[in-house]
Amino acid sequence: MTPASSPLRPCPSEGESNQSPSRRHWQSRHLDAATRLLLQRDEEVFLRQSLSTPCIDVLAGAAGSSLADVEGRTFLDFHGNSAHQVGYGHPRVVEAVVAQLQRLPFCPRRYTNLPAIELGERLAALSPMAGTKILFSPGGTGAVGMALKLARMATGRFKTISMWGSFHGASLDAISLGGEALFRQNIGPLLPGTEHVPPADPYRCLWNPGGNCNDCDGRCARYLEYVLDQEGDIAAVVAEPLRCTSVTAAPPGYWARVRRACDRHGTLLVFDETAVCLGRTGTMFACQQEGVEPDILVLGKGLGGGIFPLAAILARGGLDIAPDRALGHYTHEKSPVACAAALAAVEVIVEEGLCSRADVLGEHAVAFLRRLAERVPHIGDVRGRGLLFAADLVIDRVGKEPAVDLADRVLYHCLAAGLSFKVSHGGVLTLSPPLTIGESELDRALGILAEALIDQPTS
Ligand SMILES: Cc1ncc(COP(=O)(O)O)c(C=O)c1O
Repeated sequence: MTPASSPLRPCPSEGESNQSPSRRHWQSRHLDAATRLLLQRDEEVFLRQSLSTPCIDVLAGAAGSSLADVEGRTFLDFHGNSAHQVGYGHPRVVEAVVAQLQRLPFCPRRYTNLPAIELGERLAALSPMAGTKILFSPGGTGAVGMALKLARMATGRFKTISMWGSFHGASLDAISLGGEALFRQNIGPLLPGTEHVPPADPYRCLWNPGGNCNDCDGRCARYLEYVLDQEGDIAAVVAEPLRCTSVTAAPPGYWARVRRACDRHGTLLVFDETAVCLGRTGTMFACQQEGVEPDILVLGKGLGGGIFPLAAILARGGLDIAPDRALGHYTHEKSPVACAAALAAVEVIVEEGLCSRADVLGEHAVAFLRRLAERVPHIGDVRGRGLLFAADLVIDRVGKEPAVDLADRVLYHCLAAGLSFKVSHGGVLTLSPPLTIGESELDRALGILAEALIDQPTS
């Protein structure tokens, strides 16, 4: 079916649509003619697509926790595409990049280089899995593709189980794993054998809507086990251990149960931590809070220090099984500059204690939002892990239907006051500041958010 004969239904997804009337209103009130002209040139030259072009504004600078647009307006960046764990332009990362650029800017694939080796060794030492071996790629989507290939080669099987509503990148293999209609609708046949199950979601549980996880005996895990049993030949279960955009954590014990089920079936467990790795959730890797080791761990985004595109797969010992095949083969596989940036970023995260900082500041933010929820009935739920936290806006707390219009208004109100964040899945305000953010910046952002939520008309 062509897109013309099958109009897309609006589908809340990952991020907010660029079609919102609030966006146009915000632009008409805040942007001058020169900025509007740049946006027009951008739209004329770039293919339009739902979550970017036409864009909202034109940036000219970024430093620490803030973005600056071409008119000098600044935004505390609680979005950052989850790539800014160490903030923007961290001096140690910039210094490492500049030095490496002057020394060895590129490494053709038949060679290796010191930053790549050192980064590999550093990540292997930090990895939760014994005997970890590593492969880099220029982006998370490619790393997910490598994980899929490795799982196929290691098991001799091709089927996967992943989650409805998930996102694992934008290529055809990644959208086949992913579960968001925005990426899957009207695009033609997807990868065969990509089975989906509903995600474990304690707030909007499919099996036990009015109840809680204590009175249900893990039906979400049982469903996944059931599909594993029925198929019998699943190569891998692929999931984020913590759903980044909705900040949804599975109930306690879920991943341990999935791990045991994978082991029974000879299925690999792949955790995609592209968006939640490297201290974001208060530990170096999000899966460490689940006490569950995957077979393959995917890292990305912040790995490049908020500067370079870089992602990786970490594979447990025993998975170095394809010396005669090609798993990645990316031109920029061992980019010395990207690896130097990553090495510096990882050192900053470790040496500046950013994991525990995320933990402490995250608790403060969640406590603030919980107090705010006592005054704002449209906050249905507050969730957080480290410096990744969310307020789930609902029309009412019983029906839990996403308050899409309200979320949209709150976003543009906050942008006008200098705070940027993401709206996901219609009504979830997803907040992820740099882990280096100052306490006063965090409090300023929380104040802006509170004011926006209290000020909004509720209908
Ligand atoms: C969980 C997850 N996996 C994979 C990707 C794809 O990463 P990239 O955009 O670097 O290809 C993303 C990007 O948002 C992601 O959130």
